[in-house]
Amino acid sequence: MVSSLDGFIAKKDGSVSWLESTDIYEKGVTLTEEHVAEFLSAIDCYVMGSRTYEHALELGWPYGDVPVIVLTHRSLTTDRKNVEFYSGDLTKLVNDRLKPSYRNIWMVGGPMLTKDFIRLKLADDIILSIIPVMLGDGILFFDYIGQEQALHLKDVTAYKDGMVELWYEIRKE
Ligand SMILES: NC(=O)c1ccc[n+]([C@@H]2O[C@H](COP(=O)([O-])OP(=O)(O)OC[C@H]3O[C@@H](n4cnc5c(N)ncnc54)[C@H](OP(=O)(O)O)[C@@H]3O)[C@@H](O)[C@H]2O)c1
Repeated sequence: MVSSLDGFIAKKDGSVSWLESTDIYEKGVTLTEEHVAEFLSAIDCYVMGSRTYEHALELGWPYGDVPVIVLTHRSLTTDRKNVEFYSGDLTKLVNDRLKPSYRNIWMVGGPMLTKDFIRLKLADDIILSIIPVMLGDGILFFDYIGQEQALHLKDVTAYKDGMVELWYEIRKE
């Protein structure tokens, strides 16, 4: 999830220009296109809520032919062969449908669905990338998760554009 320092992952109007940082942090690592391509090539399935899906359709589909599962209670349709709509129990989705078929599943968001995955202990890792901006208003990532969750910090990377990536493992015990 990409967030502002004050915890917002989207503006109220859905605009995303704030994701492009103009900051410079000299000691940071350069994020190359090769690095991004290598990271994305390891993902073998995307899962997302219907609002994130509809936003992705508006902005330009970034998921190519990789399988995408969209959570919705509505009867949505698509011509894309790699998109499947799902409604219902998330534990069943993960254990019966996703785990037997895929190794590296990316829960794209949004926060509504991400929080459910964390509460139900269905997620293994959280990668939070903080952009050097405060938005002041918008959709919060963690407004209220309703339970304590211990984490293990796996990695921290600061990038040249001022973005800081925090990689946590979700402790299951
Ligand atoms: N900054 C980032 O990294 C980032 C990442 C992802 C998304 N976003 C942004 O986040 C915003 C959307 O987030 P959001 O939290 O409002 O919405 P969301 O999580 O994307 O979608 C919520 C919808 O998912 C469906 N849903 C959730 N749980 C379900 C279940 N168990 N069974 C069936 N359907 C289920 C429902 O759809 P129906 O109403 O269709 O039933 C619900 O209204 C967008 O602006 C997006 O661009 C930002």
